[in-house]
Amino acid sequence: MNIDPLQNPKIIAGHVVSFRHSPFHGEPKAAVKIHEAVALAGTRIHAIGALADLQREFPAARVEHYQNCLITAGFVDSHVHYPQTAIIASWGKRLLDWLNSYTFPEEARFGDYSYAREIAERYFDLVLTNGTTTVCSFGTIHPESINAFFEAAQARNLRVAAGKTCMDRNAPHNLRDTAQTAYDESKKLLEAWHNLDRCSYVISPRFSPTSTSEQLSALGALWAEFPDCLMQTHLAEQHDEVAWVNKLFPEYRDYLETYEAHGLLGPNGLYGHAIHLEARERDRLKEVGAALVHCPTSNTFIGSGLFPLSDLVQLGLRIGLATDTGGGSSFSMLRTMAAAYEIGQLQGVAIHPIQLLWLATIGSASAMRLEDKIGNIQEGFEADLVALDLASTGAIEQRSKRAENLWEAVFPTIMMGDDRAIAQVWIAGEHYS
Ligand code: GUN
Ligand code: ZN
Repeated sequence: MNIDPLQNPKIIAGHVVSFRHSPFHGEPKAAVKIHEAVALAGTRIHAIGALADLQREFPAARVEHYQNCLITAGFVDSHVHYPQTAIIASWGKRLLDWLNSYTFPEEARFGDYSYAREIAERYFDLVLTNGTTTVCSFGTIHPESINAFFEAAQARNLRVAAGKTCMDRNAPHNLRDTAQTAYDESKKLLEAWHNLDRCSYVISPRFSPTSTSEQLSALGALWAEFPDCLMQTHLAEQHDEVAWVNKLFPEYRDYLETYEAHGLLGPNGLYGHAIHLEARERDRLKEVGAALVHCPTSNTFIGSGLFPLSDLVQLGLRIGLATDTGGGSSFSMLRTMAAAYEIGQLQGVAIHPIQLLWLATIGSASAMRLEDKIGNIQEGFEADLVALDLASTGAIEQRSKRAENLWEAVFPTIMMGDDRAIAQVWIAGEHYS
């Protein structure tokens, strides 16, 4: 049956934020426009503008009023490990010990589809109540972890990206694949899931220390066969890790070259953390148009260091924002924006709330090469939206009441808000509940 999507339009009224361009170039306020309302038709954003105009255009539309709310594109979390949901906030370790003590034992459970599905469902419940509508996730080495993730996402009509994590050394034996099985299983999952509904596959070597050269090459070859796929990994997160990579791969100039030498550097690459980069690595990442993903709650929680956001933006690198669940200490992109602000302050940079919101929406969408589909309130974009209540707690309300402009009113929600600030979430035009 042919259904006309305009038959059942709806209008959402509030402070609707739409970005015109990046707020990191020029005055941040010039990068956004605030509209009275947005009209949805079917699964997409149909029009943005004055409420009266949209009502005139769609006289049959139901109007949903969110008076004290900011209506924004849903948050996009561009680096997560959904299998680490149940071990978030585990005490007392730094990266390499944290992986061995907490992460690997938990990831070993994901060969069981029903456990993987239970955690995937729990994970999506948690992120959706926090206003996150798209994530880019690592799985575990088990194909079951990816089938469970995509099936859970598909049932909720979510736009997501994920891939099987590949490791063939320096990990427990029950968490190792091989160069060949990593290639074969990744390819099979890719062929099953890439571009199916709202799912896309991401080739995912965990990081250089847990892959042999042979495995990195096999995954580089797979990427060359499917260059439109994303490739995600980790880069220069902690000093000990960088020193370990230098020892494991003495033939390369730096960490980034361990990826490039195996075909794992390219414009569709996402490199998580990227805190302790050499100048050569920064320049090369910029040259190829790769994306970096800033994971601020993880960087403070595991004690990794201060991501030099401002320098990297000035260099012209594409940057997404992410929780890094469960190295990160929160499922909330509000908390993640607050941590990015705090890390900026420690380096003498005050990131504007408009810039924080941009990183959590378009920044991450563009890191995932989805900037023509999600991450902004723009005609034709997929209708994944969030209504942020700007007075969700007494503490926030009393501060935002004093505000002299909208962005001053939004900032307390960024700094102090949590899932109580999420007044509504729309997935492909429908309420999530
Ligand atoms: N580096 C390699 N694996 C991981 C992981 O699971 N989490 C974080 N934060 N860093 C990593
Ligand atoms: Zn990670």
